[in-house]
Amino acid sequence: MKRNILFFVLFYVGIVLSDQALAQTGNPIVVRIDQPTSDIQSTMWGIFFEDINLAADGGIYAELVKNRSFEFAKPLMGWKILKKDPTEGLLILNRSATNEANPRFVRIARNGTDEKFGLENEGFRGMGIKKGMSYHFSVLARNAEESLLKLRLELVSEKGEIIGTANLAPEKGDWKRYSADITATATDSKSKLDIWFEGSGALDIDMISLFPDDTWKNRPGGLRADLVQLLADLKPGFVRFPGGCIVEGFELATRYQWKNTIGNIDARKTMINRWNTEFKHRLTPDYYQSFGMGFFEYFLLAEDIGAEPLPILSCGMACQYNSAEVAPMDQLGPYIQDALDLVEFANGAADTGWGKIRASMGHPAPFNMKMMGIGNEQWGAQYIERYEAFVKAIKSKYPEIKLVTGTGPSPNGKFFDYASKELKRLQAEVVDEHYYASPEWFLQNATRYDHYDRNSYKIFAGEYAAQSKSGANPDNKNNWRCAIAEAAFMTGLERNADVVHLCSYAPLLAHVDGWQWTPDLIWFDNLKSFGTANYYVQKMFSNNRGTNGLSVTQDNQPLTGKDGIYASAVFDSSSGEIILKLVNTTGNTWNQRIILDGKKGLNPKAFRTVLESGDPEAVNSLERPLLISPANQVIYLTRKTMKVILTPSSFSVIKIKLAR
Ligand code: AHR
Repeated sequence: MKRNILFFVLFYVGIVLSDQALAQTGNPIVVRIDQPTSDIQSTMWGIFFEDINLAADGGIYAELVKNRSFEFAKPLMGWKILKKDPTEGLLILNRSATNEANPRFVRIARNGTDEKFGLENEGFRGMGIKKGMSYHFSVLARNAEESLLKLRLELVSEKGEIIGTANLAPEKGDWKRYSADITATATDSKSKLDIWFEGSGALDIDMISLFPDDTWKNRPGGLRADLVQLLADLKPGFVRFPGGCIVEGFELATRYQWKNTIGNIDARKTMINRWNTEFKHRLTPDYYQSFGMGFFEYFLLAEDIGAEPLPILSCGMACQYNSAEVAPMDQLGPYIQDALDLVEFANGAADTGWGKIRASMGHPAPFNMKMMGIGNEQWGAQYIERYEAFVKAIKSKYPEIKLVTGTGPSPNGKFFDYASKELKRLQAEVVDEHYYASPEWFLQNATRYDHYDRNSYKIFAGEYAAQSKSGANPDNKNNWRCAIAEAAFMTGLERNADVVHLCSYAPLLAHVDGWQWTPDLIWFDNLKSFGTANYYVQKMFSNNRGTNGLSVTQDNQPLTGKDGIYASAVFDSSSGEIILKLVNTTGNTWNQRIILDGKKGLNPKAFRTVLESGDPEAVNSLERPLLISPANQVIYLTRKTMKVILTPSSFSVIKIKLAR
């Protein structure tokens, strides 16, 4: 026994000694605590929402029925006819003369035989069903001939077990919405909905819908609560929507037009999603936009989670990677009018034309929109010309609206240089820069904004992500190597908060079975969701935004990667906290003395949150959602000094409170 104890003592002493042998001691890091620098904008850390990777339909929009109104190019995509002879008993009809937005419907005609006849909807890679949860089924039905057809509804698990039922009997009459609630008896992430038609006669049906009861804020027809909660937990300063390239469209006809996405959901015209066909290696033929998640819902989401809404509008240019179609300058009027009308929709009084529509949707109070983006990722002279026309029209009517423009898809090169020069000349207010690049690029560019012109436009780092492989490669991973590089880079964004006013990682959401683009901040299946390591990096910055920058140096220099250490610091005037962010990108342990220099007294107890991993390839997953997640520690100060051990490959946030 004694021998064993001796062995363990020697073993652990050995580990500690060898660890210390590897540990390095850096010169002291100095934070100037009584000299706040630039203001940090409330919009500093936000989110970028685009309906890519089934983010909206099949994702945050909690509708479980795919192709609910039979408007996909193939009207029965997502549906299966449950019958021996699949052509009999069902007609696809079109009433485009009376309903342009939602023309197609299905007519079921039964002659009273005993054979079972039904329709099955497969959901979005299945339907996520939870035991004990109530599911709200609804259908628009027309029973013109007083048929006796009744609907038997069944939730069917992947294994084929019936896990919930309900019945519905449409009465004689014109189109009317009917509903029934189904309580699930089991949990299954890949269920289906079967609708059996019993009896005889004819019935017209459309807008077949199934929503769980547990939506965000329990709103009927609302959003998936777990996904909204993950967004809310970021405490984002803004929500940029609806994209991304989806704004532009493959061609102008399929650009995002906000006016088609508001009002009654039956009247929102379904349209192909541009990510349906974008990548040959990730074709998604069943990807359409129902617009159940439309502009009203985006504004509401922003309001719910305390973020500023930042809509991005088409500037009359379709995606330049696709058709590159442009609206001629003399035909730009409707595009500009959309922008002007959006201001009225968001901010106008409830008795204005568009304000009235917002009010009729249940939001009489204005959304108080302050910013708007003109175009997504356009480049070249055609863009500058169109941008100028938008600025002229919007600023003359709404000078208070801050306009966001952009430098195109790359953070450097000929298009970038041209756009930056032109946008400086035009005295642009906020300029969106995009960078999808290697982790090394992020480490090397932590100083990117240190030398930006302080007398010119402000920066919106509107889309960025470190890629483990280059470009739109399906093997890109949300691994720790990428996440820690982003953390290092973000210290540079924070240090330059006088120039950088908004930042958002992109894309935001991805369905594990339905994605087109990777990496993404949050992944989900039909029941579960998790934040990636990158998510926790974002969260540690955005939950610790602060109100003013503070200088943090080593040997009188900012920490921008010398010895692999990156740092930034802020002061939060509401909580009285100094918040220090330290990123150790090396494989070494650093014993670090930190001096909090300045006249103010400090609370000796400080709080540290650490995000780390010993494996650069490690990723969070549905199975191990918290593999890389923050851990908390307490650190004690000796007067104005802290000793901190920066473990290898770690990101720390340390909060020190001013003494009262
Ligand atoms: O985030 C994915 C895409 O990347 C966006 O839609 C586009 O703006 C960028 O090219």
